Amino acid sequence: MALCVVPLTGPALHAALDDLAALRIAVFREYPYLYDGTLDYEQGYLRLFAKSRDGVIVAARDNGEIVGCATGSALATQHGSLQAPFRDAGYNPGEIFYCGESVLLPQYRGQGIGHIFFEEREKHARAKGYKISAFCAVVRASDHPARPAGYRPLDAFWQSRGYRKAPGMIARLSWKDIGAASATDKPMQFWLKDL
Ligand SMILES: CC(C)(COP(=O)(O)OP(=O)(O)OC[C@H]1O[C@@H](n2cnc3c(N)ncnc32)[C@H](O)[C@@H]1OP(=O)(O)O)[C@@H](O)C(=O)NCCC(=O)NCCS
Repeated sequence: MALCVVPLTGPALHAALDDLAALRIAVFREYPYLYDGTLDYEQGYLRLFAKSRDGVIVAARDNGEIVGCATGSALATQHGSLQAPFRDAGYNPGEIFYCGESVLLPQYRGQGIGHIFFEEREKHARAKGYKISAFCAVVRASDHPARPAGYRPLDAFWQSRGYRKAPGMIARLSWKDIGAASATDKPMQFWLKDL
């Protein structure tokens, strides 16, 4: 397999948006996101992402085909519900680089691509002058019925990359879980790292 991982900005970022939508829908169906994604929602989300300041998509390609993506952009051009925990905690959203999703098809995991996804986004953020990198992850009950038997949380990975859970900094995002009748709010815990 000819695997490569490269950051995309500008027109190359725009060209990767459809692949990002497909990857988000496929990968986020799994626990813990259980996201019952629709192309309608994805198109709205991606339109916003395409307009975000300092946006980057780090794409993993296998023989040219995108098999994984990680996104990032200025927090200040993200949805207000993502900025609110920072304002409440006294941060200037302008100093924060927001790392969005990291999605990689299961057969490509465990080879260090997740590490490269962070390295590339943090390099981009430092070059743009950001002081803090942040991302958020869904909080699910540890006894959630859909949790697979061998599930390994990613907390240890995030800690090894220098991120720390920010107490009380929790955004609320809404989506429909697979099998649910309607969308429900989910708590999204922020993790922060000084760049
Ligand atoms: C997050 C994700 C992109 C990481 O990709 P990856 O290429 O497998 O990550 P890496 O190979 O760089 O491994 C990173 C760390 O994850 C851990 N890890 C490896 N395999 C794992 C597994 N099956 N389950 C949990 N953690 C695992 C290891 O601790 C590893 O750290 P180490 O190299 O210091 O030992 C991938 O797991 C994924 O797509 N997950 C589903 C979507 C998701 O939850 N995204 C995060 C929130 S947006």
